[in-house]
Amino acid sequence: MTDRIVLGIESSCDETGVGLVRLTPDGAVELLADAVASSVEEHARFGGVVPEIASRAHLEAMAPTMRRALTDSGLSLSDVDAIAVTAGPGLAGALMVGVASAKAYASALGVPLYGVNHLAGHVAVDTLEHGPLPSRCLALLVSGGHTQLLLVEGIAEKITEIGSTIDDAAGEAYDKVARVLDLPYPGGPPIDKQAKQGDPAAIAFPRGLTGPRDPAFDFSFSGLKTAVARWVETEQRAGRDIPVPDVCASFQEAVADVLTAKAVRAAHEFDVDTLVISGGVAANSRLSALAAQRCADAGITLRVPRPRLCTDNGAMIAALGAHVLASGAQPSPLNMPANPGLPV
Ligand code: KG4
Ligand code: ZN
Repeated sequence: MTDRIVLGIESSCDETGVGLVRLTPDGAVELLADAVASSVEEHARFGGVVPEIASRAHLEAMAPTMRRALTDSGLSLSDVDAIAVTAGPGLAGALMVGVASAKAYASALGVPLYGVNHLAGHVAVDTLEHGPLPSRCLALLVSGGHTQLLLVEGIAEKITEIGSTIDDAAGEAYDKVARVLDLPYPGGPPIDKQAKQGDPAAIAFPRGLTGPRDPAFDFSFSGLKTAVARWVETEQRAGRDIPVPDVCASFQEAVADVLTAKAVRAAHEFDVDTLVISGGVAANSRLSALAAQRCADAGITLRVPRPRLCTDNGAMIAALGAHVLASGAQPSPLNMPANPGLPV
């Protein structure tokens, strides 16, 4: 068998992504191109993603992003052997742009189409950087839309959710706290930067769902966000200046502490020795440092893809599509729907 080229299309939120990968006969997957266009700046003044704006932006960006991915890889559409597209979860209108585009390319080229899961894509992307995953591993997926612990027993075969947020996603908490502190959207990068000058022990913010009777692997960040807002309000009412770096460092510590403690505990409980952390929040400096420390102490191998691959992109969908293709799974029908609530 020869190499196969898989094209991946991502449009579940505010990034239009087109990626290309090579699947070799031995099952290795290699990154060839990763073109991304983001509408994040158009959403910034609203403090969050506006679905209607995201859909329109995908429509404008899809063809140019496709062209850029092909140019970057030196390939042409006729080299493509299969197309993978994010079928869900995500914003309905945004997903439909990617799914409709993928169907058009697949039928024009006469190649199989694979509708794949966005969350699994965030895990699959790590194989582009660190090679094949072990037969069982744990994934902590932390982004603006999701916070989940996943037990991965074959990236194309079996992924089980063992915990998730019961309210806000970790990235959403960053974005909301940034708004309270008058920091720009998206809030993760400015909070991460401010926190470097602050004291993580300055303010004792709550760690959600860490009581003895709480679910072991679920998360809650809405109480933390409210606690930060109340603390800031109280200081302002008393006429005191807000120590923004201390607030950021203390908030960030609470998030990183809960995420890493629960991930390490889950690794023990499910007897896995590898943890993958992915999604936009995986770029957080304190989360990666604390995860590295706690994983080393617990004898767990930590895999974190580079930040560019952690955020939404088409390469992650191409990588997952390649693993699905290699597994021998049936392609999706050309009337495949987009599914905003697609479970992992
Ligand atoms: O994965 P992603 O690009 O898009 C979604 O699928 O949501 O994640 C975006 C989220 C945003 O909430 C952003 O604030 C957060 O990731 N983020 C960070 C950092 N960089 C981005 N959060 C914490 N620290 C960072 N350095
Ligand atoms: Zn995502």
